Amino acid sequence: KRIGILGVPMDLGQGRRGVDMGPSALRYARLQEVLEGLGHSVLDYGDVDVPVVESLRPSGGGGLVYLEAIRKACLETIETLGQMSPETFPVVLGGDHSIAMGSVTGASRGERVGVIWVDAHADFNTPQTSPSGNIHGMPLAHLCGLGDPRLANLGAEGPTVRFEDVALIGIRSLDPGEVAVLREHGMSVYSMKEIDRLRIPEVAAAVLERFQGFSRVHVSLDADVLDPEVAPGVGTPVPGGLTYREAHLLMELFADAGIVTSLDLVEVNPILDRENRTARIMVELASSLLGKKIY
Ligand code: ARG
Ligand code: MN
Ligand code: MN
Ligand code: MN
Repeated sequence: KRIGILGVPMDLGQGRRGVDMGPSALRYARLQEVLEGLGHSVLDYGDVDVPVVESLRPSGGGGLVYLEAIRKACLETIETLGQMSPETFPVVLGGDHSIAMGSVTGASRGERVGVIWVDAHADFNTPQTSPSGNIHGMPLAHLCGLGDPRLANLGAEGPTVRFEDVALIGIRSLDPGEVAVLREHGMSVYSMKEIDRLRIPEVAAAVLERFQGFSRVHVSLDADVLDPEVAPGVGTPVPGGLTYREAHLLMELFADAGIVTSLDLVEVNPILDRENRTARIMVELASSLLGKKIY
């Protein structure tokens, strides 16, 4: 495969410092070398420009300023992904999860896309339902066309993603308004309870069957889906997450199906981490998704 790496050092979607160093942490964990070791040809497109938070505050306006800056970075992400050849498999490095409004739209290339959202959170808030106001809790809703119109239709006329083309896996923290919106649109949510009940193979099989025949399938992998004991370097840890092996098995089963066409690695915060463990695990999971075989 040809793989294109793109960094988006974004921290404006949430309040904790350090997640903008995610792309560096993932590169330091040898993402490119590991993927090349699997036989892929890998090109690094560098980083999208993201303004430093201190440079935005003096111009005033709080959340609105961040919304515009996030919108611009997402548009640049879409543009850079558009420069990759259509067969290229993009691996987009966050940054906080707000970057997915750019990565999913850019990677889908105007085609119908199945989205597998692997996360402790649904990120299905709108500015109306969000208790925190943090945009990293809202990208999936905006990809489906909800929320603020300035973030909702970034790619083209309509929304990038259909409600019925989303599967959420690993969910264990939802806000009350978010639950209502998820239910209203009949979203397919595999919470940790469902994972405990059905185990990973059954969940993976159900999700993969839904996206059989899709020309584009995007996996958006939020590091906080892992248990915080396994991956401590995240800004919004929630106990009771995926074990190391559950996460790998999920990626290995996706790899066997051979239908995934793009990947996000987001929410890695090396400042909150211990010895870059979280970035290292995310690189390993990417390599499992991209064909690493034990035997
Ligand atoms: N639901 C919370 C919020 O909207 C947390 C979102 C966390 N999102 C993430 N990408 N880590 O503020
Ligand atoms: Mn920053
Ligand atoms: Mn997320
Ligand atoms: Mn999350």
